[in-house]
Amino acid sequence: MHHNEPTDLQRLALSRRRFIGCGALAGAALFLAGTPLGRSALARTATSTPLLGFANVAASTADTITLPPGYRFDVLISWGQPLHADSVNYRGDGSHTAAEQLGQFGENNDGMSLFPWPDDPDRALMAINNEYCNYPYLLQHGQSPQSLEDVRKAQAAVGVTVIEVRRDSNGAWRFVQGSPYNRRLHANLPMAFGGPARGHELLRTEADPEGVAPIGTFQNCANGMTPWGTYLTCEENFSDCFGSRDPQLALTPAQKRYSVKLDGASDNRWHLYDERFDIARHPNELNRHGWVVEIDPFDPQSTPVKRTALGRFKHENAAITLSRDGRVVVYMGDDERGEFIYKFVSRDRFQPSNAAANRQLLDHGDLYVACLDGQSLQPRGEGRWIRLRFGENGLTPENGFSDQGEVLIHARAAGSQVSATRMDRPEWIAVSPVDGQVYCTLTNNVQRGSEGQPLDGANPRANNLYGQILRWREDGDDAAAESFSWDLFVIAGNPVVHPGSRNAGSANIDADNMFNSPDGLAFDPDGRLWIQTDGNYSNSGDYAGMGNNQMLCADPLSGEIRRFLVGPVGCEITGVAFAADRRAMFIGVQHPGEGGGSSFPDHRPEMRPRSSVVVIRRDDGGIIGA
Ligand code: FEO
Ligand code: CA
Ligand code: CA
Repeated sequence: MHHNEPTDLQRLALSRRRFIGCGALAGAALFLAGTPLGRSALARTATSTPLLGFANVAASTADTITLPPGYRFDVLISWGQPLHADSVNYRGDGSHTAAEQLGQFGENNDGMSLFPWPDDPDRALMAINNEYCNYPYLLQHGQSPQSLEDVRKAQAAVGVTVIEVRRDSNGAWRFVQGSPYNRRLHANLPMAFGGPARGHELLRTEADPEGVAPIGTFQNCANGMTPWGTYLTCEENFSDCFGSRDPQLALTPAQKRYSVKLDGASDNRWHLYDERFDIARHPNELNRHGWVVEIDPFDPQSTPVKRTALGRFKHENAAITLSRDGRVVVYMGDDERGEFIYKFVSRDRFQPSNAAANRQLLDHGDLYVACLDGQSLQPRGEGRWIRLRFGENGLTPENGFSDQGEVLIHARAAGSQVSATRMDRPEWIAVSPVDGQVYCTLTNNVQRGSEGQPLDGANPRANNLYGQILRWREDGDDAAAESFSWDLFVIAGNPVVHPGSRNAGSANIDADNMFNSPDGLAFDPDGRLWIQTDGNYSNSGDYAGMGNNQMLCADPLSGEIRRFLVGPVGCEITGVAFAADRRAMFIGVQHPGEGGGSSFPDHRPEMRPRSSVVVIRRDDGGIIGA
C-alpha cells in the first residue's frame, strides 16, 4: 500500500513521541526545522512519465466552462431535471411546487460518488449531494421562504439524489430518467441513528421519544464512498436551518458552539413556518443533525443511517482508507473558523467478502482529534491524534461529559477539552493512493490572528484570505497511528498583487496558476491531486487575476500545480467523481449566477441559472489529466 520508506532523518524525527499535549510541542518543532519531510525527499525520478499532461488554462471571467485544448464537457443533470417517468418537466421559472420538486434533481449539487455497475462498464449509479438552496432561483417570487409551502419546497430540494447513468456508443455519459434507482433523499425522509449516541437523551424529541429515528438530511456538503459500496453524505451547516420565534430565548453554550442564531443565521427561515426547526419548541432536534449519514444507493428502499460514532460537527467530507491491519479509517474536517480535524478508526476490520458485517463497521470505534505543533511557525512539524473517549483526557462529568454519547454529540467541546489545534476552516481531505499521505484544504480564515486563534506553522497568516493545503504522513505509514508528521503542500496567494510577502503564496504559486480558497480535493487513481475552489471571484483587489472559481491539478511529488478548468460566473466548483476507466470526470458547478450575471447551463434569457453536474472528456478518449 505505502511504498516510500522514510529517510534516516525522518525515522529519527518520527521516533520522538514523548510529548503529551499541544503545549509541550515547541521543542519538537524546533528539532524538526530543516528535516526533509516535504517533497524534496520524494522527488520523482527523471525517467517517469509526467503526471500532468494538459496545458495550463488561463484565468477567465467567461460564463462557461473553460478547459484545456483537447477537452470537452457535457451537462449530465441540472437542478429541476425530472427523475422519474412521471416527474414534471423543468419549467425554468421557479414555479414548481414542493411535490413536483420531490420528483426532480435537487438544488446546489456538491460532493458526489460514482458506483460502477458490477458487470457493466457502461452503467453506474451516482449519489450526489444537494447542499442548500439559492432562494432567488428556487422560489418563483425570488425571496427567502414566505410560507410553509416555500419551506417544504426547500426541504424537497436538499439532501441527496441517487441517479443511474449510462455511457452511450459515442462514449458520452447520460442520466437515465425513469430508472428504478433514481431517488431523492430529502429533509423530511425518515432515517435511523447508529452508533454510541443512538437513543441518547439529547437525541430524544416529542416525535421520537426513543431517540433512534431522526427525520431528514440537509446541508449535505461533501461525501465519502466506502469500500463496501455505500455512500457517506456529510451534514455541514445544519445550524443555518434552525432558529426561534422566541426573541428572548437564551442560547445555551452548546447551541452557541455550533453557531446557532435566533434569527436563523441565514435566509432559510425554516423555523418560522416549520416548528421542528424552532429550538425553543424542540431543542434536541438540533442535535439530530450534523452527522455523517450512510446510504445504500443500490437499495432504493433502504433507510439511511446517521453514524454517531463519527461525531457531530459541521462535516465537510469523509475520506476513507484502511489501516495496516485492515480497520477502516475516516478522515473528517469541521468547516468553521478555528475548528478541528478528526479521524475515526473502526474497532473491527473490513471484510471484503462479508457485506453484512461491514454495515456495522462505522458504529464501533474511536474518534480522534488532531493536535499539531508549530509554534515555531515552520511550515512543517509533528502532531498527535488525541482520542475522544469518555473518561479519558478530561472528558469526564466534572467537565460536562456524562457519557460517550455526549462526547460525540458535543464533539467540538470534546476537542476543545483536549486542546485540539484550531485550524483555518478544514474542508475536504484526500488520501494519496500512491503513498498514503493525507491532504486537507484549509480554505481561508479572516479570524486567524484574533483572540484564541494565534498564528502557528499550519495556520501561518493573520486574516488568511487565500488558504493553504496541509499534508501529513502517519507514523509507520499506518492510518491508525496516533502520531504523524506534517507540512504545507501549498500556500495560496497572489504573487502579482503581493509580491515578496507572505500573501504571494508558496513557491509553487505563480501569476499563471494562482487561486484562492481551496475546498474540494480528491486524488485520481494515478495520484493526481485535483483541487477545487470556493472563493472570492471578484477578480479584483486581493483577488485580481484569479478569475472565476476553478479546478486545478497538482503533482504531489514535484509540487507543480496547473489550472485545469474555470467555471461560469458566480459559481463554485465542488464535487468530483471518476468513471472507472477514468475516461470521464464528473464535476459539480454549484450556484452559477450567485448574485446574478449567469445563464449557465441553458444560456436562454428566460431560464434561471441552475447548478449542474458536468462530464469532462477528452476528444481522443484518453485518461483525464494525463
Ligand atoms: Fe459546504 Fe465547507 O463547504
Ligand atoms: Ca465545500
Ligand atoms: Ca466552501
